[in-house]
Amino acid sequence: MIIKEVNILVIDDEAVIRDGCTKILKKEGWNVDTVENGRDGIELIKNKFFDILLLDLMMPGINGMEVLQEIKSQSPSIYTIVITGYATIETAVEAMKIGAFDYIAKPFTPDQLRLVVKKALSNKALIREAEYLRAEQEKGLHAIDQEKSKIRTIMNCMPNGVLVIDKDKRIALYNPIASKLLNISGDDPIGKDVDECINCKDLSIMISDTLRGKSSHNAGIVSEIAGNDAIPLMAHVAPVVMADSEIAGAVAILQDISHQKAVEKMKSNFIAKVTHELKSPVATITQQLNTLLEGAAGELSEEQLKMIEKAKLWGVGLIALISDLLSISKIEAGMSIQKKVLLDIREVVYDAIEILKPQAEDKKITINISLDNLPKINADREGMKEVFVNLISNAIKYNDSGGKIDIYGERDKDYLRISVSDNGFGISREDLKFIFERFFRAKNKKTRQIIGTGLGLPIIKEIIESHLGAITVQSEEGNGSTFTVSLPISEKPLIREGEPVLTNY
Ligand SMILES: Nc1ncnc2c1ncn2[C@@H]1O[C@H](COP(=O)(O)OP(=O)(O)OP(=O)(O)O)[C@@H](O)[C@H]1O
Ligand SMILES: [Mg+2]
Repeated sequence: MIIKEVNILVIDDEAVIRDGCTKILKKEGWNVDTVENGRDGIELIKNKFFDILLLDLMMPGINGMEVLQEIKSQSPSIYTIVITGYATIETAVEAMKIGAFDYIAKPFTPDQLRLVVKKALSNKALIREAEYLRAEQEKGLHAIDQEKSKIRTIMNCMPNGVLVIDKDKRIALYNPIASKLLNISGDDPIGKDVDECINCKDLSIMISDTLRGKSSHNAGIVSEIAGNDAIPLMAHVAPVVMADSEIAGAVAILQDISHQKAVEKMKSNFIAKVTHELKSPVATITQQLNTLLEGAAGELSEEQLKMIEKAKLWGVGLIALISDLLSISKIEAGMSIQKKVLLDIREVVYDAIEILKPQAEDKKITINISLDNLPKINADREGMKEVFVNLISNAIKYNDSGGKIDIYGERDKDYLRISVSDNGFGISREDLKFIFERFFRAKNKKTRQIIGTGLGLPIIKEIIESHLGAITVQSEEGNGSTFTVSLPISEKPLIREGEPVLTNY
C-alpha cells in the first residue's frame, strides 16, 4: 500500500536541526512541521495527523521521554524516531523500549536522516498492508461463515434427508432428517466411511455405483430402499461433477415414502374389497341369464334371446375384469399365496384348455398339443393355470374363426420352455413394446370388438417372474404370435406339497 501524503513533525530545541531536517525532508516531497519544545509538539499532535515524529530527547522543559510517554497513549499510530547525542545512546534504547521506532544520533548526515525516515515509512506501509490484508481475510472468513450457515440452515430445514459423500465414499455433510432416516451412528460421522456409520447395503451400492460413474448422464440413480426400522425410502443419488468431468463426490436425497405406501395399500385393499364384493352378484346375474337362455323360464323370442345373449356377454366380460383386478390387488399387496408343488405342466395346460373349450369351439379353432416327456417343475398350480388360461384365451380371442393354436413344450438345459403359438392377428412392432404394460390393448379394426382389460399379460408376467422364469413374445402383424414361457426345472420340491407360502408375486 502506498502512503500518499507524508506528514513529519520535528521537535527539537536547536534551530539548526529543525531547519536542516526541514530542508532535507521537504526535498523528498514530505510535509514538515517543526516546534521547539515538547509542550507545543503535544498540542500540535492533538490537532494534526503525523506519520513520523523526529523527537529530540534532551530538551529544556518537558523532555523527549515525557513527550514519548504522552503521545504513546494519545496517538499510538505515530512513528517516533528519537534524536540523541553520542552520549545518550542508552537513553535512546530506553526510548525504544517504551515505543520509539528508531533513533538517530547527532550529528547525522542528510542520507542518514533520509534512511531512518524511509525505514520508518516503509515499516508503516508494511504494517498497514498487513492490517488491510487481515481485515480482508476477516471479511472473507465472515463471508464463508455466512455461506456455511446458510447451507446448514437450508439443509436443516429440508423435509428430505440429505447426505453428501466425498469421492472416497466418506461422509462430508448430512442433515438431521438423514440421520433419523438412516440412523447414522458414531460420535462424529463427518469424514468417516459411509459403511462405518450407515447400515444400509442398498444405499451403499447406489453410492459406490454413482462414484464410479455408473449413473447415466449424471442424472443419478433412483431406487426404493429400506431405511432405519425398515422405513420405505425413495433414494436419489446423484454425482457431483466438476468442470473437468471428474466426479468429486455424490449427493443422496432421501424421501420417506411410508405415507404414500400406506395410501397405495389402502387403495389396493379398497379395490380388492370392492371387486370381491362384486364378483358373486355379477356371477349370479350371468348364471341367471344363462338359465333364461336355456329356456328355464319359458320360450324366448328372437329379440329377447339376442338381448339376453348380449347382456350375458357383458357379464362374462365383467367377471374377467373383476378376476384381473383381484389378481392385481393381490400382487400389489404381496399377498398371493403360492402353494409350490412338483407339477406336471401338461395337466395344467389341459385344465386351462378345458376352461376355454367353449370359446375355442365357438370360433372353430383347433388346438394342437405336444407336451410329452417333460420334466416336472416346482410351481404353484393356480398361478400356472392363470398363465396358460390367459395365453390360450388370447390366442383364441385375437384369432379368426377356423384358426389354429400350437402348444409345444421342450426341455432346454435347466429350463422348461412352453410356447403357445397362434396364426391369428399378430401384433404390430409398435404395440409389441407395450403389451406387458397394465391396461395396454392394441387398437385396430380387428381388435375393436374384442372385450378385455389389458391386465392378462402383466399379471402372468409377474407370476412367471415370481417363479424365477421369463416370458418372451414373437409376433408379426397378420402372421400370428408365439408366446414362450421359460421356467426353471427343479427335481425336488422346495417345500412340502401343499404348504402355503406368502410371496411377492
Ligand atoms: N395372441 C395374441 N395375438 C394378438 N394380440 C395379442 C395376443 N395376446 C395379446 N395380444 C395383444 O396384447 C394386448 C394385451 O393383452 P392382455 O392379455 O394383457 O389383455 P387383454 O387380452 O386385452 O385383456 P385381459 O387379458 O385383461 O382380459 C391385447 O389387448 C392384444 O392387443
Ligand atoms: Mg388377455
